[in-house]
Amino acid sequence: MKILFFSAKPYDKVFFNKHNTHSLQLDFLETHLGPHIVNAVDAGTEAVCVFVNDKLTPEVLEVLAGKGVKIIALRCAGFNNVHLETAKKLGMRVCRVPAYSPEAVAEHAVAMLLTLNRKTHKAYNRVREQNFSLTGLLGFNLFHKTVGVIGTGKIGKAFCKIMLGFGCKVLAYDLYPDAELSNTGVEYCPLEQVLQQSDIISLHCPLSADNKHLVNEQSLQLMKQGATLINTSRGGLINTSDVIQALKTGKLAYLGIDVYEQEEKLFFKDLSGSIIEDDTIQRLMSFPNVLVTGHQAFFTEEALTQIAETTLNNIYLLGEGKEPDAAFMLV
Ligand code: NAI
Repeated sequence: MKILFFSAKPYDKVFFNKHNTHSLQLDFLETHLGPHIVNAVDAGTEAVCVFVNDKLTPEVLEVLAGKGVKIIALRCAGFNNVHLETAKKLGMRVCRVPAYSPEAVAEHAVAMLLTLNRKTHKAYNRVREQNFSLTGLLGFNLFHKTVGVIGTGKIGKAFCKIMLGFGCKVLAYDLYPDAELSNTGVEYCPLEQVLQQSDIISLHCPLSADNKHLVNEQSLQLMKQGATLINTSRGGLINTSDVIQALKTGKLAYLGIDVYEQEEKLFFKDLSGSIIEDDTIQRLMSFPNVLVTGHQAFFTEEALTQIAETTLNNIYLLGEGKEPDAAFMLV
């Protein structure tokens, strides 16, 4: 079985080759999948393996199906970049890795929060220049703060548990509240209440047509003056220009984002020698109270191992005419 990987990075090759126990043929392309490249897919390719910023539009899927591709394997959890209805219509199977160390993402959200509230990024640079002054490094305790968690699936749940460990009050909003989490002390309430009462808000719901720009001018109005917002979920959950306004007025005191709406032109690339044309991200990065990381929340040894093992097993089973666990299948 021949599998063509898009958006493949050196670490993808390492982990997928290491865990290729069924000796599948793995070919790697660095480029994103999209209309510009789809015609280059070789006949004989039975599966394509894609990541968060590959674009599987109806047109792209139709070309792939025409070339005989039968399996779309997402090596990630989110699937907002794949037009599932078209895949289904074309008789393709779409699998994903729904959980690969949710703790990896939850812990990164916490790392962003602790960097922002204790300014460790500034302290690191300052001390290296033999500047041991504390002026400008004043932080705040997480203990007894109210943390609002939007989306309490696998990642949100792991994040809630860590925040409870810090001694925070945790409010949560989810379309489907989790009874087990309620028993641990998390208080589910309506979205408006979470926004109004939280000192810190962390987004852990998937992006959908219904919640695009969940954080916008109106929802920001509801938040406390000086709130902290963390987004490790999907960039489209935030209206970036509204957030920039909120940072300017101090409505938001801190922003930590691992995802960005226009990230496909930037993230996962070394652009250190380039001129970045995206003025919005440049404006965001100019704020001293904003921390941007390039979609690295998932990036741990444990998570990459699980991604490779699950993805290859899904493809192998589908190729053998067997059915992977329903939890891995989208179509
Ligand atoms: P999950 O499917 O386990 O949980 C998602 C939860 O969000 C569910 O409980 C669902 O009911 C809830 N939800 C859905 N729509 C909602 C809405 N409009 N408002 C409130 N809650 C809503 O997903 P998981 O594994 O926890 O992942 C969450 C998201 O994290 C993914 O969809 C993905 O976008 C993002 N992610 C980011 C990564 C990174 O490296 N930055 C890595 C992996 C996932």
